[in-house]
Amino acid sequence: MRRLGLNEIREEYLEFFESKGHLRLKSYPLIPNNDKSLLLINAGMAPLKDYFTGVKKMSKNRATSSQKCIRTADIDNVGKTQRHGTFFEMLGNFSFGDYFKREAITWAWEFLTEKLEMDKNLLSVTVYEEDDEAYDIWRNEVGLSAEKIQRLGKEDNFWELEVGPCGPCSEIMYDRGEKYTNPDDRFMEIWNLVFTQFNKMEDGRYEKLQNPNIDTGMGLERTNCILQGKTSVYLTEVFTPIIEKIEELSGYKYGTDGEKDKSV
Ligand code: GLY
Repeated sequence: MRRLGLNEIREEYLEFFESKGHLRLKSYPLIPNNDKSLLLINAGMAPLKDYFTGVKKMSKNRATSSQKCIRTADIDNVGKTQRHGTFFEMLGNFSFGDYFKREAITWAWEFLTEKLEMDKNLLSVTVYEEDDEAYDIWRNEVGLSAEKIQRLGKEDNFWELEVGPCGPCSEIMYDRGEKYTNPDDRFMEIWNLVFTQFNKMEDGRYEKLQNPNIDTGMGLERTNCILQGKTSVYLTEVFTPIIEKIEELSGYKYGTDGEKDKSV
């Protein structure tokens, strides 16, 4: 596995998807523009909803970005787990009615195993329980063994915001080894591939989208954590200077008291 830094991972990701014909986008601001359903941008796809529904068009029908996000729904996990942050960057590749599951899955695999050189044996995936198409691509085209592909229900493998484009998804996990006793820390989710097929309306109805889309979200800080072999995202290069400053101001040494670590 390559020991890349955070800026290198971001650049390699964007370059990789540019080489697959994607338009490189800048991160949108954290404050949503014209979206009453969100207080803050919480996913790479959130500022792109109008492109998924076809209301707006870009110069290309595929794009890639590293989007600044704040995910308030996860806030109770921040400080407790090794992988949740309030503010983070989400790497994403998006298809607006262009490519679909096959490309999204095989490119994700290519990026992880060939560009980042992750060990194939340490990767496993989940798919939505009814999604035979995604299962077959992982099983027959990528060549994952059946025990590395888990089928899960709507709660785990259907991705949606309050309103807007949504659909079944497939998550990719990296096995960090038996020393992590919490399964979610051991099998760390690094990438979510969403097969956007519906538009969730304000009244809760799911309307079928005219063209199926792709929306993926890969955690930049989590990937950095794995590549650098750190136990927690907080021990990676973007967080350590902040933690050191807090230590200096508070006189508290991070890592000595679980409760106080949460506050840090
Ligand atoms: N939109 C994909 C994700 O946030 O996981």
